[in-house]
Amino acid sequence: MPLIELERICFSYTPEDAPVLRDFSLSVEAGECVALRGDNGAGKTTLFRILNGLSFPQEGVYRFDGEAVTPALLKNQRRAKLFHKRIGYLFQNPDVMLFNASVREEIAFGPRQMGLPEAEIAARTADCLALFGLEPLADKAPYHLSGGQKKQVALAAVLSLNPEVLILDEPLAGLDARTRGRLLPLLAELRQAGKTLLVATHDEGLVEALDARTVRVGGMHNA
Ligand SMILES: Nc1ncnc2c1ncn2[C@@H]1O[C@H](COP(=O)(O)OP(=O)(O)OP(=O)(O)O)[C@@H](O)[C@H]1O
Ligand SMILES: [Mg+2]
Repeated sequence: MPLIELERICFSYTPEDAPVLRDFSLSVEAGECVALRGDNGAGKTTLFRILNGLSFPQEGVYRFDGEAVTPALLKNQRRAKLFHKRIGYLFQNPDVMLFNASVREEIAFGPRQMGLPEAEIAARTADCLALFGLEPLADKAPYHLSGGQKKQVALAAVLSLNPEVLILDEPLAGLDARTRGRLLPLLAELRQAGKTLLVATHDEGLVEALDARTVRVGGMHNA
């Protein structure tokens, strides 16, 4: 059974607009790595919102681990918590993710929400700060950081949750060559570690480094 299964979904933001996704199907096994490719406006971010239960298709079915992800399912707080615990989502725009007073708190937030013991929260936070070399920024306010720094903090905050599925929307966009060079092997390691990875990207090098299966979103392939 695939871990993630979209069956002929259709999605429009409003009834007047043409559908962004039309009869779109996708099946992803646990441990697989998929690169979502497509032009600007093709619907990659929209697809990721659906996979994370932030939007719901008007037609078709989305199943996660065999269970249909519906508004009713996610209204159940316990089920919603379980679902969100399993999927980590890096937004294309990190600004919408960052709201804590410091980088350290931002990274600790997820593990704290999960109710982990303080020692475990501290250990995970320290690990993630080190992984990205973010220690010098640990006490800074995330909203005062640069775009590339924010992106790294947002990714660190996703990884501190250690979810089994990672949905990464343009994880390397806007990063300088040195940072990109550091993150490429890190993402490849996550794949090696058995994470299920879905990545929307225009970065050919990333698709290669991850040895990802490419899926096209939008255009003729989605008609
Ligand atoms: N909140 C919204 N309300 C209405 N339309 C939207 C909304 N968000 C996106 N759209 C439209 O949906 C379409 C798909 O947008 P989406 O952000 O999913 O594309 P994308 O493939 O992620 O593009 P990019 O490569 O630029 O990130 C676009 O035509 C966009 O204008
Ligand atoms: Mg996008």
